[in-house]
Amino acid sequence: MKVLVVGGGGREHSLVWKLNQSPRVTKVFCAPGNAGIAAEAEVVPIEVTDIAAMVDLARRERIDLTCVGPELPLTHGIVDAFEEAGLRIFGATRAAAEIEGSKVFTKDLLAKYNIPTGTYRVFDNARDARAHLSEVGAPIVVKADGLAAGKGAIVCQTLQEAEEAVRLIMEERAFGAAGDRVVVEEFLTGEEASFLAFSDGKTVLPLATSQDHKPIFDGDRGPNTGGMGAYSPAPVVTDEIFRQTMDEIMIPTIRAMESEGRPYKGVLYAGLMIKDGRAKVLEFNARFGDPEAQPLVMRLDGDLVQIMEAVIDGRLDEVILNWHDDASICVVMASGGYPGSYEKGKVISGLDEAGALEDVKVFHAGTSLKDGKIVTAGGRVLGVTARGRDIPQAIERAYEACSLITWEGAQYRKDIGAKAIKFLK
Ligand code: AMP
Ligand code: GLY
Repeated sequence: MKVLVVGGGGREHSLVWKLNQSPRVTKVFCAPGNAGIAAEAEVVPIEVTDIAAMVDLARRERIDLTCVGPELPLTHGIVDAFEEAGLRIFGATRAAAEIEGSKVFTKDLLAKYNIPTGTYRVFDNARDARAHLSEVGAPIVVKADGLAAGKGAIVCQTLQEAEEAVRLIMEERAFGAAGDRVVVEEFLTGEEASFLAFSDGKTVLPLATSQDHKPIFDGDRGPNTGGMGAYSPAPVVTDEIFRQTMDEIMIPTIRAMESEGRPYKGVLYAGLMIKDGRAKVLEFNARFGDPEAQPLVMRLDGDLVQIMEAVIDGRLDEVILNWHDDASICVVMASGGYPGSYEKGKVISGLDEAGALEDVKVFHAGTSLKDGKIVTAGGRVLGVTARGRDIPQAIERAYEACSLITWEGAQYRKDIGAKAIKFLK
């Protein structure tokens, strides 16, 4: 069968890599892909939001199964358009993807169904938001309602920062219409984890646990990024927290979406804050995490096509997920200056040497081919991913690979996975 992956980041490279291992897959397409994906799939230069062109591609190439990586095509209705055209696609419909596309929708849903999350208020004008902030004070979190490329949640330590966040979102309109409304949310403390589950609308099948590292610098300092590294399993998610998350968060959310007439099919990703043995929801995403997908896909022991088809056909109750009994970690190598402005077009060296190491796979994110050379083309450039018998061995292998790769200005965190170590002692 022929499959198409929509997207062009590290997450999509890991999906292409895994789908290529399915005995049923004869050819993988990826749109728009990147330089690393181009070596393993046929890449087609289509923007992820050009849904009509994606439908045309799937028809023309007789694609049997399409899998969507990023959130934007989901919230733009790619799944609805494919289904209308009679094409098989793995992902959330536009109505279901609202769980990522609108923070107001999600907070109201969680409140209505008593699903644990921080307290909040919604405002549609800056004056009322400011009045509320001066009552409640800081620390506090101000979030744009809509999608803002991961930059719409602003954690404010002082009242002044919170007022500035309201100004940025609602008056400067830094994120456009995404800032028509803001959520002002209780500041939660604890340790974050990513909890992903497949769902066919009824059955909820959890993936292995994982943890992201959002801030740019070691020790979780500096501004937030799309994610600078991830690992699996994440020992902060104890068996007890795993059960509580399934019973109080994942299953009730899938049921709530069904009750609201928005049945959820695809992969649901809860960003959790864990404290005192309990998890609360920070946010939901309607897709795999990036970089969480890279270590998760590496540990998944089984045919991803079979899982995706069971989701589409509502047969997830027949599926058992198996995981390799080891650990995996992904270290993101980024352009100098990211998450601020950065230069592109730097020649990357050492990719072959790093990729030749045992149990290492270098997933590409922002890369492109120029004059026969692989060059940087984005903020997050590579996801250097390794497996090991345990987290410490996986860390050692991933960082050995990173040390072989370089380009002008390359930066990466040196402490990915370190948070897991304290639980292992
Ligand atoms: P979000 O896009 O809502 O996940 O927010 C991005 C990041 O902001 C999260 O990964 C957290 O690090 C932080 N964050 C979001 N909401 C809160 C909250 N209520 N309390 C503390 N930190 C938060
Ligand atoms: N790793 C964070 C995200 O995918 O949103």
